[in-house]
Amino acid sequence: MKKCFFRPVLFLLPFLLIVMLGISSAHAAAGKWGTTMEEALEALKLKGDVDDGEDIYTVCAACHLPTGWGDLAGTFPQLAGQHATVLIKQIADIRAKNRDNPTMYPFAIQIEGAQDLADVSAYIQTLKMNPDPPRGPNGPLYLLTNLRKDTSKNSLDVLEGTIGTDNFKNLKKLEEKRFQTEEAYLKAVSQAIGPAEMNKYKAELLKRADWGSDLKLGKKLFEENCVKCHGDHGQGNYKDYYPVIAGQTYLYLIRQFYWIEIGKRRNANPDMVKQIAGFTPLDMRSVVDYGSRFEMKKGDWKKVKEEED
Ligand code: HEC
Ligand code: HEC
Repeated sequence: MKKCFFRPVLFLLPFLLIVMLGISSAHAAAGKWGTTMEEALEALKLKGDVDDGEDIYTVCAACHLPTGWGDLAGTFPQLAGQHATVLIKQIADIRAKNRDNPTMYPFAIQIEGAQDLADVSAYIQTLKMNPDPPRGPNGPLYLLTNLRKDTSKNSLDVLEGTIGTDNFKNLKKLEEKRFQTEEAYLKAVSQAIGPAEMNKYKAELLKRADWGSDLKLGKKLFEENCVKCHGDHGQGNYKDYYPVIAGQTYLYLIRQFYWIEIGKRRNANPDMVKQIAGFTPLDMRSVVDYGSRFEMKKGDWKKVKEEED
């Protein structure tokens, strides 16, 4: 990696962000979990150069932030604290279009090869995790959101067909506002569209806005279904490429979990897909909320080889 290789593309970033965000690529050939491992395996044999990695990371920082913590809304995942094997596999999958990521793809393909992959991962490993990542709801939450817009029959836009355009326009004013009780939510809805309309569509309005989680249920599901791969405190598994989910942004994880469930994340592990088939939306939110609340411990990580100068 020559120093400053990425610099010329930096000025293009805002433009590309606007163009690429939200465009979802067509589902090309079906992807598989371990089909594009060649580059990843090659990178894992190499020693990573932290200084070169830091240089490469300049471009990554525009989205994943210089801290590597990602964004609060979960569009950009936290990379800090993720196992190097996972970072390398995921970037290699994105490069090979085995994991669709149209936002990042143009940047991922500028990585020149296995050595750059090892370098940038070695640098990311030096970043400390966010000590206070954005958590899940831990209890009831009423929220009108388009979080799963592109894939979900549960998204806010679906309501328009049911409640009509005028009501929908008024309701949009409540988008992303968080209510801790059903009563507070329904009161706000009533003010937005009137009590008669609110009563008429009450069941639908509750179903679409219910984003709560139940940590007791989450604990049970986590222990029964997730521990064997993601570890007893969400620490993942370096050797087997199982991601760290402890301390990762809740909203990012929810989206990934859902995409894995419906097959949109094409490099998903088939055993995980089987494991979570039949999870209800509440199961899903609860188990992810629970699993992301752990903290990593010393010894959970194993470092990739670093270049010694
Ligand atoms: C234009 C924004 C953007 C840039 C620049 C970018 N990424 Fe990403 N990256 C994303 C998005 C968005 C996702 C999550 C995609 C999804 O939701 O599936 C992601 C996901 C990832 C993941 C997977 C994380 C996980 O938990 O599975 C890794 C690893 C990653 N990026 C590394 C990098 C590296 C290294 C660079 C620099 C070479 C980089 N990214 C540059 C937007 C970006
Ligand atoms: C058989 C092993 C296995 C089981 C069981 C499993 N997972 Fe996974 N999970 C994986 C692997 C492997 C990945 C990464 C897939 C890939 O390579 O893209 C993953 C990815 C994820 C992700 C996305 C992480 C990211 O950074 O993008 C979430 C969230 C997740 N799993 C949550 C869970 C939860 C919650 C459970 C239990 C209900 C569970 N998984 C059960 C193996 C498993």
